[in-house]
Amino acid sequence: MRRKLVIGNWKMNGNRAGNTALLSGIVAGLNDAVGKPCADCAVCVPAPYLAQCQAELEGTPVAWGAQDLSVHAAGAYTGEVSAQMLVDFGSTYVLCGHSERRAYHAESSELVAQKTVAALAAGLTPVVCVGETLAQREAGQTEAVICGQLQAVLDVLTVEQVAKLVLAYEPVWAIGTGKTATPEIAQAAHAFLRARLAQKDAAVAQGMQILYGGSMKPENAKELMAQPDIDGGLIGGAALKATDFLGIIQAV
Ligand code: G3P
Repeated sequence: MRRKLVIGNWKMNGNRAGNTALLSGIVAGLNDAVGKPCADCAVCVPAPYLAQCQAELEGTPVAWGAQDLSVHAAGAYTGEVSAQMLVDFGSTYVLCGHSERRAYHAESSELVAQKTVAALAAGLTPVVCVGETLAQREAGQTEAVICGQLQAVLDVLTVEQVAKLVLAYEPVWAIGTGKTATPEIAQAAHAFLRARLAQKDAAVAQGMQILYGGSMKPENAKELMAQPDIDGGLIGGAALKATDFLGIIQAV
């Protein structure tokens, strides 16, 4: 049975004081909900705030991580952040291939695959993000697009490495728009991804947590996470308010 997992992607948001209020609100809400159904949870924050997460979340049920990483282990790569640096600050997760990095930084699926390898090599859990644009969906290209994005990663990993991944399906047209995919549309994409994973290894496919991202809110989280192949959420806007983030975590 796959555990539900809800990860907050803060994107380029936050400040020291506000972060403390948000993080303490999440932890307090989880402490109040002990014994009630709750998803596992984490926050993926801008790299400057990893030290604050380590200081304020150590020993709590909330894991943390980053939103990107360098493919390089170290060296003359100005401005980049290595996997080991994320590990130095206690990170568990790192997003790889978020649609905003694919769009704004021309990240190819091959580069995403290399970042996934770098994350695994340092002992991080990569959250590999795939998803189609509205134009691609309207052109009937959804499965071809997400298949290609996933396959680029599968092509460079062993079965044992694939087993360590988390996958996130984020239809680009649902991100930040309030136009959440219907449970049926999301489930269809998740089932397709799981079937593709099964071609690599059936047991790994069954064990893989596949998160949905794209305007998941407390109001729609329960119906989405009730779908057989939706194992949680990758949350943007709703992760920035403790009550909303907790509402999703507890919607299992
Ligand atoms: O990575 C999660 C993010 O892309 C979803 O954003 O604001 O639609 O929940 P949002």
